[in-house]
Amino acid sequence: MKQSPLDHSVLTGAAIAARIDDLATISDDPECLTRLTLRLAHRKAVARVGAWMREAGLEVRIDSLGTVVGRREADRPDAPTLLLGSHIDTVRDAGRYDGNYGVIAAISVVDELYRQEVQLPFAIEVLAFGDEEGVRFASTLTGSRAVAGTFDAAALDDVDITGMTRGEALLGFGADPQLARSEARDPAKTIGYVELHIEQGPILEARKLPIGLVTAINGGTRADITIRGESGHAGTLPMNMRRDALVAAAEIMLAIEAIARGNDALVATVGRIEVPRGATNTVPGSVRMSLDVRSSDDALRIDALRAIGEAMARIAESRRVTTTMDITYEMPATVCDPRLMAGLEASFNRFGHAPFHLSSGAGHDAMAFRGAIPCAMVFTRCRGGLSHHPDEYASPEDMEAAALVLHDFILSLGAAA
Ligand code: GLV
Ligand code: MN
Ligand code: MN
Repeated sequence: MKQSPLDHSVLTGAAIAARIDDLATISDDPECLTRLTLRLAHRKAVARVGAWMREAGLEVRIDSLGTVVGRREADRPDAPTLLLGSHIDTVRDAGRYDGNYGVIAAISVVDELYRQEVQLPFAIEVLAFGDEEGVRFASTLTGSRAVAGTFDAAALDDVDITGMTRGEALLGFGADPQLARSEARDPAKTIGYVELHIEQGPILEARKLPIGLVTAINGGTRADITIRGESGHAGTLPMNMRRDALVAAAEIMLAIEAIARGNDALVATVGRIEVPRGATNTVPGSVRMSLDVRSSDDALRIDALRAIGEAMARIAESRRVTTTMDITYEMPATVCDPRLMAGLEASFNRFGHAPFHLSSGAGHDAMAFRGAIPCAMVFTRCRGGLSHHPDEYASPEDMEAAALVLHDFILSLGAAA
C-alpha cells in the first residue's frame, strides 16, 4: 500500500482505537456497553467527544436534538459545508465500533487537517448523532433527520419504557427540541454527508479487503405487533378452549421467518417480545412484539409486510385472537451519490485499495439524508462480520485505511474546488 504524502501523527489506527476504547468505558450499564439515547452515559459521551472536537480545532455546540456539532470554517465566508459523522448511541450489550468509529475517525481526519494547517474552500462539520439505534424510542434518526431537514415533530411524543417522552428527555438533556427546524442545512450550501462505519457483515472479510465503498443502504420498516387473546387459569382451562396470545405470537413469528426466507434480498426479525402480566400459571392473554423488515428492494419489503399482515389475520382467525400492527419507522432504500462515490473511489485507487462496491444491510444516519443532501459511506472490515455484539472488532490498520481515504478525499475535493 502506498504511504500518504503527509506524516500522519494523529491520523493513525492506534490513536483511533485508543479513543474507541476510551469512549467504550462510558456506559449506562456497568456490566456491558449500553448507551441509549439521551440517558446519562450519552451525556457523558457528548462531553468527551466535544472535548476531542475542540482539541481538533473545531467550534463545538450541542444541537436541539442532542447531536454534537463540531465546525471548522472555510478559508472564505459563504463557502459550502461538507458534513462528516456517525452516531455515539449504542444498542444494549453493544460492540464499541458501531457508530463510534465513524465519529472518532472523522475527528481524527479533521485534527490532521488542523495540525497540517490545511486551508480548504469549504467548511467541515463533524456530527456525532445520538439517536441511530432506535432502542429507547420507537422512532429513530431524529438527529440526522433534523440536519437533513426531514425531522418530524411527532417523534417528540414518543415514549420510552418509563413513560418519558422524547421531548421531555431532550429538555432534561439540556437541548431545546422546539428549535429542531433550525437545524436543517441548506442543500444548496452543503456538499454532502460522508460517513465511515464498520461493515457489520462478513463480505469484506470474505474478500480479504480492508475497506469497501457503499452503493446503497437497505430500506427498513419497524413495527409494534400486539396480539390479544384471553388470559385464564393454566391448570383449569382445557387446551381446546384457550385463546393463548403467546402461542399465536409463536406461530406469527414462524410465518414471518418463512416469508423472509422466501427471498434472499429480504430479512425480517422479531427482536423483542413481552407478555404483560405473564405468569407461569396463567394462559397468556396478550403479547407485544417488535418487527424489523429490511430489503434493498422497497417493493419487495412492502410486499413482505402485506404478506405478514395476511398471515397474522389467518392465524388470528384460527386461534380466535385479534392482532394489530403499528408501523413506528419506515425508511426507503438510500442510493449513495455517484459524484461523492467517484471522488472516494479515486482516493481508494491512490492508496492501492480495490474500490470494491457493496450495499449495506444495516441502517445508518446517512439514510436520513436521502432526497435532501447527497451521501456516501465507506465501510471497514470487521472480524467475523460480527456487530451488535460485545466481541465486535475492527483492526487499527483497517480503521486507519478508511480514515486515510477520507482525509485524501477531502484534500482532493479542496484541490478541485
Ligand atoms: C442499526 O444498527 C440498525 O441497522 O438497526
Ligand atoms: Mn451504526
Ligand atoms: Mn447499530
